[in-house]
Amino acid sequence: MTSDILRKARDYEREHLKEVGADVLPRYHLTGGVGWINDPNGFSLYQGEYHLFFQYYPYDIYWNDMHWGHVKTRDFIRWERLPAAMAPDTEADQNGCFSGSAIELNDGRHLLLYTGVRKTDADTEFQTQCVAIGDGIDYEKYAGNPVITAADLPAGGSTRDFRDPKIWREDDKFYCVVGNRCPDGTGAILLYESADCLRWNYRGKLAASEGRHGRMWECPDFFRLDGKHVLLTSPQEMQVGDMEFIDGNTTLCLIGTFDRENVKLLREQEQTIDYGLDFYAPQTVLTQDGRRVMIAWMQYWNSVDFRPDQKLPFFGQMTVPRELRVRDGRLIQNPVRELEAYRRNPVEHHVRLDGDLTLDSIRGRCLDLTLTLRPEEAYQSFTLKLAKGKDYETTIRYTPETNTILVDRSRSGLPEEILNHREFRVRDRGGELALRVLLDRYSLEIFVNGGEQAASFVLYAPEEADEISFSAEGAVGLDALQYDLEFDTI
Ligand code: FRU
Repeated sequence: MTSDILRKARDYEREHLKEVGADVLPRYHLTGGVGWINDPNGFSLYQGEYHLFFQYYPYDIYWNDMHWGHVKTRDFIRWERLPAAMAPDTEADQNGCFSGSAIELNDGRHLLLYTGVRKTDADTEFQTQCVAIGDGIDYEKYAGNPVITAADLPAGGSTRDFRDPKIWREDDKFYCVVGNRCPDGTGAILLYESADCLRWNYRGKLAASEGRHGRMWECPDFFRLDGKHVLLTSPQEMQVGDMEFIDGNTTLCLIGTFDRENVKLLREQEQTIDYGLDFYAPQTVLTQDGRRVMIAWMQYWNSVDFRPDQKLPFFGQMTVPRELRVRDGRLIQNPVRELEAYRRNPVEHHVRLDGDLTLDSIRGRCLDLTLTLRPEEAYQSFTLKLAKGKDYETTIRYTPETNTILVDRSRSGLPEEILNHREFRVRDRGGELALRVLLDRYSLEIFVNGGEQAASFVLYAPEEADEISFSAEGAVGLDALQYDLEFDTI
C-alpha cells in the first residue's frame, strides 16, 4: 500500500521532473533530476535489469528526510526513472530511510534491506535494519520491522550509528555487512547471517578502524574478486595526513583473505578507493556476465553547502559505473565497457611535446580522452588543462620525479573556501603515464595507468569553457585519442 508520504513524493516527481530540460542535466551522469541525492542504494540485478536506488529528498536541493529514489538500466549509462520507492512513513523509519541494498529472491520478489531511523527525542536516535519487499516498482515495508536491532549488536556497539546494510547470497544463506560505531568511537563492520532475510544472527566483527582509518565507518560492501576478498567502506573524520587519503569523509578499500572461522578479514592491502575530491559511499553489483561494477556518489560531504551559479534543480551526481578488478593486490577500476558504444568522432594525434600546445579538434566538455606519455630528454613535468576558457581552467599536472599527480580545480566554478587541490602518488613507470579522462557538464573523472587509480571531481565551469591544452617542461612523446560522447537523452 502506498502511504500518503510516498504518494506526495511521487506526485511531486511527476509534476516537476518534466520541467527539467536535458540542457541542464549532466549528459551521462545520473542525478535525481529534481531534489537532493546522496549514496547509491540497492544496486542489484532484478529480472534482467540493473536497479539502482539512492538517498533522496525530492523537494529541495539540501539533505532532509531521506526517501529512496529509483532508476533502472540495461547498460549502466542510460537510466530509466521510476517512481520513488520508499518514504519515511513507518514507526521504524519515521526519521529517514537511510542507505541499504537489495537482492532478488528466489520467488521473483525484490527485497530491500535498509536502515530505518527513529528519533524518540531531540537527543535520542535509533538506527535499525528494516526490510521492504516489492516487484521492481512498488515496495511494501515488512510488518515485522526492524529485523536487526540493538539486541543484535556486539557489546557496547552504538545503537545510533548502526547503518547501511549490504546484502548478498552465498550457497543457501543470506549475509549482510553493517557499519557500526565501537565503544571507543571508531568504526567497525559487522557481519550477519540469515536463512530468510527476516531473522538475522550476528556472526562477528569483520574489520575495524583500529584507530587508524577515521571514526564511524559508513556504507560497507564486501565481495570476492580475483581470488581475494574486498571490503569497501566510507570512514568519517579521517585524519591521516598523507597523500593516500583526504581528511574528513573519505573512502577505504581493504583487500585480503576472509578467515571465515574467526570472521576476520586478514588485510593485505589498505588504500583509498578514489583519489579525487568527490567520491563517497560506493556500492557494487555483480553483473550477469560476472563483472563487479561499482557506482558512487560523486560529491564530498565537506563541501555540500556550496551551490553552483547555474542554479540547478538538483544536487548530487553519481560517478560513471566502473568495472573493478584486483591486480597485483590493488583495486583496479575502469569505466564500464558499455560507455564505449557512445563514442563518436575519433580524433588522434601523435606528437612530440616540448612547450605549450593545442591540438586540432581536441576540445569539448562531453568526451572520453586517452593520453599516453613517453618521456624524452630533460622531461620534468606534463600539464593538461581542460574545461578552459576566459577565467576558467582545470589543471592536471604530472611530475615524474616525485611520481605525483596534482589536480587543481580552483578555477573551475567552485568557491575558494572548499578543498580544490588534490595530489596523489602514482606507480613509478619510469616517467611513462597513461591517462583516461571523462568529462561531462559538471564533472571530471580521471583513470590513471589502466585503472590503477581513479580520481573524481565535480566542476562547474560554464560549458563554453571547452578548450584543452598541453604543456611540458622538457620533452615528452604524446599520443592523444579523443572521442565525443553522444547520448540522445538519459
Ligand atoms: C553516507 C550516509 C549513510 C547514511 C546516509 C544518510 O553518506 O551518511 O551512512 O545511511 O548517508 O543519508
